[in-house]
Amino acid sequence: MADTNELYSEALARFGELQDAAAADLREPTTMMLATADADGRPSVRTMLLKRFDEQGFVFFTNSHSRKGRDLEENPHASLCFFWQSLMEQVRVEGSVVPISAEESDSYWETRARDSQLGAWASQQSDPLEDRELLEHDVSKYQAKFLNQPVPRPPHWFGYRVIPERIEFWKSGWHRLHERVLYEKTTESWTKTRLYP
Ligand SMILES: Cc1cc2nc3c(=O)[nH]c(=O)nc-3n(C[C@H](O)[C@H](O)[C@H](O)COP(=O)(O)O)c2cc1C
Repeated sequence: MADTNELYSEALARFGELQDAAAADLREPTTMMLATADADGRPSVRTMLLKRFDEQGFVFFTNSHSRKGRDLEENPHASLCFFWQSLMEQVRVEGSVVPISAEESDSYWETRARDSQLGAWASQQSDPLEDRELLEHDVSKYQAKFLNQPVPRPPHWFGYRVIPERIEFWKSGWHRLHERVLYEKTTESWTKTRLYP
């Protein structure tokens, strides 16, 4: 169920404006850092692309057998961090993570280039790869397997949605007096708080 709290909508609108502003001079304005942690709480972070955001949350796509996929299986919480140097603005998003529906993953999968689809089948993401040729061999194997037909989505490749509980905006200010505004979900609704830089 979508959260219709006005402050949440305000935070999403501000995030959207930043993405639009960043898109003016960046090739990949949706680049973000995704931090996960394993069952013991050990963190790991990597660069990802955000593919969608709305009141339901922030969506990215990956291989669920990867290291991050295994982390999320054990500990379904994540933190996202966006930084746009041209704007000198940062956004941090934290929340629980759920897989999106198969239909939603399928509809994004269909927009991907065929080569990327074949790559998703061939890559055992995060596993040791003895020889690069093995990967190329696997791509050829799937090319032959799906010859003259659409490439189906691998069952282990899908989207995850981060359902925000905290969204923090950081804007560079004079004399390091940066502006920080935190939107936070309480049991019932969202709050907005200014933070010391
Ligand atoms: C700019 C950039 C964008 C990336 N986008 C994605 C992405 O959307 N999905 C993905 O699975 N990996 C993406 N990667 C690769 C990840 O950083 C990472 O290497 C891979 O997902 C394996 O991470 P893991 O071993 O922690 O699971 C991207 C890398 C870069 C540099």
